[in-house]
This record gives sequence, structure tokens and C-alpha cells, in this order.
Amino acid sequence: MREKVERLSKTAKDRINQASTEEELEQLRIEFLGRKQGKITKFIKGIPDLPLEERPLVGKLINEVKIKLKKSLDQRKKEISQEKRSKRIDITLPGKKPYLGSLHPITQTLKEIESIFIGLGFQVITGPEIETEYYNFEALNIPRYHPVRDEQDSFYLDDIHLLRTQTSPVQIRVMENTHPPIRMISPGKCYRRDAIDASHFPMFHQVEGLAVDKKVTFSDLKGSLTYFVHRMFGRKIHLRFRPSYFPFTEPSAEVDISCIICKGSGCRVCSNKGWLEILGSGMVDPEVFKKVGYDPKEYQGFAFGMGVERICMLKYGIDDIRLFFQNDIRFLSQF
Ligand code: DAH
Repeated sequence: MREKVERLSKTAKDRINQASTEEELEQLRIEFLGRKQGKITKFIKGIPDLPLEERPLVGKLINEVKIKLKKSLDQRKKEISQEKRSKRIDITLPGKKPYLGSLHPITQTLKEIESIFIGLGFQVITGPEIETEYYNFEALNIPRYHPVRDEQDSFYLDDIHLLRTQTSPVQIRVMENTHPPIRMISPGKCYRRDAIDASHFPMFHQVEGLAVDKKVTFSDLKGSLTYFVHRMFGRKIHLRFRPSYFPFTEPSAEVDISCIICKGSGCRVCSNKGWLEILGSGMVDPEVFKKVGYDPKEYQGFAFGMGVERICMLKYGIDDIRLFFQNDIRFLSQF
């Protein structure tokens, strides 16, 4: 009887391993382990006919076989369900490439500007976007009735707070809190009440610059800005320092670069002038130094401010500022 049980157990095991569906497995369970007709179960019924000393051994063997076969059934069931699942996934299909984003062109331009000035020993310092009239205007020598303070141009939040119209107030905050020598740039957002068109947007970015020390001269300003322009636009670009006016610098100069489209011969982008204005600059006005408690006889400084959108548009040949803020993936994915 023992041999018969073992032989049957082997047959059952082989057939379980060959089964390919869950239904087949259930059939096999009934065939071998079924309560009434199961082939193994039936052996239990034959135990009383055995000699007394064999009974416990055969009983034990049958139990062991039952447990083993149940395990094999469970195991095979698991395998079958796994095979089913992997059949649903066609692992030979080519994979989908994950879509990789990139930095916004304005962020890229900001980073590039920053890295050029960091190379010249400038520190990057940021200031608040909500400013007081004092920092945005007064301390920068822009008196109360100056036209740029016109409400038309600024977003006021209450009587004294406004969204900064320029990054220049950071100059004041830095000078109030540190002693010269200072070499800093301040990138950030600015806001003006401008009607939206191809070259105006009510929110835009500027990078402010300030260097203060004993014996800083206009040649330091020229040298630093020339180096910047050559790094940003290439060494073949010509610069022109054009006398200008800003309330917080004296003398003041705007910097033009030779048109990067027509190389100076005149085209639509430069309005046939051959030159493009890219930033404002000048020597810090003594009045500004007095406001922050620096002695203008002891210290001099140069300052500059540039529009990041304008620089980015010139660098990449973009003709509409609105493209930066529409979040059109066809535009952004080119950078
Ligand atoms: N804040 C000026 C503007 O928004 C730009 C500027 C010009 C900044 C000359 C300066 C400067 O620091 O010296 O137009």
C-alpha cells in the first residue's frame, strides 16, 4: 500500500506541474484529494484493513502526501496567474521616452548673466518685489514729482507700498547693510503698468549691478560692461557708451551694441540705426551715497541695470516678449 500511495503521489505531482489552467488544477484537486472520490482520500478508507503495526505509518504517509500535493497545487496556481499577467504585457514593444523639460529661456539667460559677473567677483543678492516708495524712488534720488513716479507707471498696493518698478532699490538695501568694497548683482522681477505688446509686458526681469570702493572710475564701468557684452554676445560685437540720464547716476550712459542681425549696416530689428540699446549705467550719484551714509569724497561706484527679456530676445532672435509668458511648449522646447 505504501508503494501504491507513493506512486500515485508522483503521478499527481507530475500532472499538477503540467496543468496549464486553473480549471485543470481544480479538476486534479478533486481527482486526487476530493472528499469522497479522491484517489488519495480513498486510501484512508483502506487503512482499517491493514495489519495493526502498518496502520499508523501508512496514515502518516497519506497525510504527508496530502499536504505536499496541496502545496504543489497552490504553487502551480501562482505560476499560472503570473504567466497570465506577463502575457498581457508585450515586453518586446519599444519603450516610451520620458519627456524631459528644460530651463525657461529667461532662467537660462539669468544664469548666464550671473555666471559672467560671478567670474568677475560679483556676489548675487536678491531683494523684495514689494517695495516702499522710499527704496524704489526716494533713496534713488527720484523726487516726489518726477514723472517716473506717476501712478500710471507703477502698481501701488497702498499709499507707500508698490511692486518695484526696477531692481535698483536693492542697491540701497545692500549699501545700508554693508561697508565697501561692494561688488554685487541683483536679478529679479519688476512690474510696470505697461500695455502689453511685442516689446512690453507688465512683469519683466532685470539684473542690477553695483560696485563701490575707493578709486572706482568710469573706466572700471566700461571695462566690466565690455567684458560682459563680449562674453554674452561674442567678441566681434562693438559697444557704444551713449551719454544719458538716470536720477541715481552721474554721469550716466546707456550701452548700445552693434546690431547682431545686420552687424551694424541697418535692418528692421535696429530700426536702421545699426545699434541696439541693452542697458543703463553710470557712476553712483553722490546724493545716493549721502542717503546711505557713505562719504562721497571717500567712495565712488558704478551701477548698471539691464532688461533680461531684451538680452534674451537679442541673443536668440526672439521678436515678441509675449512668447516668454504664454507657456507654449512649441516655443519653450526649443531651449
Ligand atoms: N533702473 C533703470 C531702469 O529701470 C536701469 C538702470 C540704469 C539701473 C542705470 C542702474 C543704472 O543701476 O545705473 O531703467
